[in-house]
Amino acid sequence: MKTYIVGNWKMNLTVGESSIYLQKLLKRIKPAKGLEIAVAPSAIAIQPLRIQLDRLKSKVKLSAQNFYQKDYGAYTGEVSIMQLRGLVDYAIIGHSERRYIFGETNKDLCQKVAAALRNNVTPILCIGETENERSFGETVSVIRDQLHGALSEIDADDVKKVIIAYEPVWAISSNKNARLASPDDVAESVRLIRSELKEIYGKETAEETPILYGGSVNPNNAGAYLTVPGVNGLLIGGSSLISDHFIDIIELAKRVKS
Ligand code: 13P
Repeated sequence: MKTYIVGNWKMNLTVGESSIYLQKLLKRIKPAKGLEIAVAPSAIAIQPLRIQLDRLKSKVKLSAQNFYQKDYGAYTGEVSIMQLRGLVDYAIIGHSERRYIFGETNKDLCQKVAAALRNNVTPILCIGETENERSFGETVSVIRDQLHGALSEIDADDVKKVIIAYEPVWAISSNKNARLASPDDVAESVRLIRSELKEIYGKETAEETPILYGGSVNPNNAGAYLTVPGVNGLLIGGSSLISDHFIDIIELAKRVKS
């Protein structure tokens, strides 16, 4: 299975800054077999970065951070994945900031996963419990609900095309009182996710679905997370905004996974 290093820039960097960042990234990294590198810029930067990547025939991929689940219509202010088709290879779906700030529900997310798949874009479905849920011992049920909720209308063949990102909300660096997840915490949740996938879709699908980890990943701890059994890559927020850090993590991933 490939290793995925994905940078989620969230609502940061102007179009110009995004382009300069990408230029630096492309200069410094060499493609490596089995390593997939993607960045998720703001929606307005996607097209210029697509042109930049195409001009250089780069293998670096683009991801959307979000989209609306309908393909077109009277939805003022929204962007559909059909409109993003051809510009991005991936789309982050159900990030905790979308769930808790913008009120996205499992039903919305289920429609988004289906919309991405019908438009040939790989969904990166984010799941993960909050600090409160964890302290009440609800981690297992939350992960189960989020997984079942977002995948309820997707069959086993299509689930293999979905990437799952486990992002415990309490470990995301922008949250007040964020704390690091231990590799053991991550291992436990990744085991749970695979066993849920196995229960719904069978062993083969459970083994073939990539699972990424996200939450305060930086160049110092990336190696530990990448070596957790069952982790196929990283979804990185804050550290991906510093190109030197993102490049360090990419280099590390090459060494760890080779
Ligand atoms: P941090 O790496 O800043 O904790 O963000 C993680 C994240 O939310 C990536 O989607």
